Amino acid sequence: MASLWFLLLAICCYISSTEAKNPVAKFHYDYNRIQETDQTWNCWKEGYRPPPATSNKIHESGNGTAAEIERILRFDQANAVLFLFTSNSDNTNLHTTFQIARNKLVRLSLDNAGLERLELAFTGRDNDCRLAELSVPRNRLSDLPSGLERLTALRKLDFSYNLLEDFNLDRLVRAPGLKQLLLAHNRLESFGSSVQTSFASLHKLDLSNNRLRTLDATYWSMPQLETFHVDNNRHLTTIVGWTRTRFPLVKGFDPAGTNNWNQTWLKSVQ
Ligand SMILES: *[C@@H]1O[C@H](CO)[C@@H](O)[C@H](O)[C@H]1NC(C)=O
Ligand SMILES: *[C@@H]1O[C@H](CO)[C@@H](O)[C@H](O)[C@H]1NC(C)=O
Repeated sequence: MASLWFLLLAICCYISSTEAKNPVAKFHYDYNRIQETDQTWNCWKEGYRPPPATSNKIHESGNGTAAEIERILRFDQANAVLFLFTSNSDNTNLHTTFQIARNKLVRLSLDNAGLERLELAFTGRDNDCRLAELSVPRNRLSDLPSGLERLTALRKLDFSYNLLEDFNLDRLVRAPGLKQLLLAHNRLESFGSSVQTSFASLHKLDLSNNRLRTLDATYWSMPQLETFHVDNNRHLTTIVGWTRTRFPLVKGFDPAGTNNWNQTWLKSVQ
């Protein structure tokens, strides 16, 4: 009898001590979502604002379990046009995925959401002509979503602070209105293009803090490019095809910076 009591006591103490040591982890979240009930319009256009009569805005913040975060990310995209999520927690133990529906969202930002996979929920030949901003900084994405080339309305693509190893500009040729391409703090070893790519409005390109050893700008047509970050690619020596006349708005490169510039080449392009 005494030993049974002891056993029960031991089990009870064990349970309460593990509960104390491992409370269910909570993650901070803060999100804005705009729903628009009128979904008869199709493609996004510059200057679009959700009409107050048919839209409403939701803002919530707090601390939730992983299951609660997953539920927040599974909001109904059928009538949503904007979803901006951010977290200030360490997300190492948060493992999420997200599927983008076609021709619904105009802006999507998932910042520090523990994202490990991003997918487009449309296949075949369908394009998306609504998504103008796709921002997924501070996650653990090692691949671009397949079908990225179908996002024809993109203005801003932000994959900074992820785990990408390569990026092919060819995949954005159907998004000629792109203004910002942000890929800093990945593991990029290549940033290539094999066809002429024309981005008449691109003004910001950030490739800094990657692992580029070579870079070839021969096929890039980016006459409005003004902010170009490529620092902290420690083995980068030259940029093939780069001339001042082709990129007249870019100020130049820091000769004492964190690249391994060939100084002869550098003088010829400054
Ligand atoms: C979330 O948790 C943090 C730290 O545990 C706390 O400082 C913060 O006030 C909480 N935020 C909300 C909105 O409850
Ligand atoms: C540096 O660049 C110049 C001019 O582009 C080239 O002739 C030279 O071979 C390069 N030096 C090295 C070490 O690659």
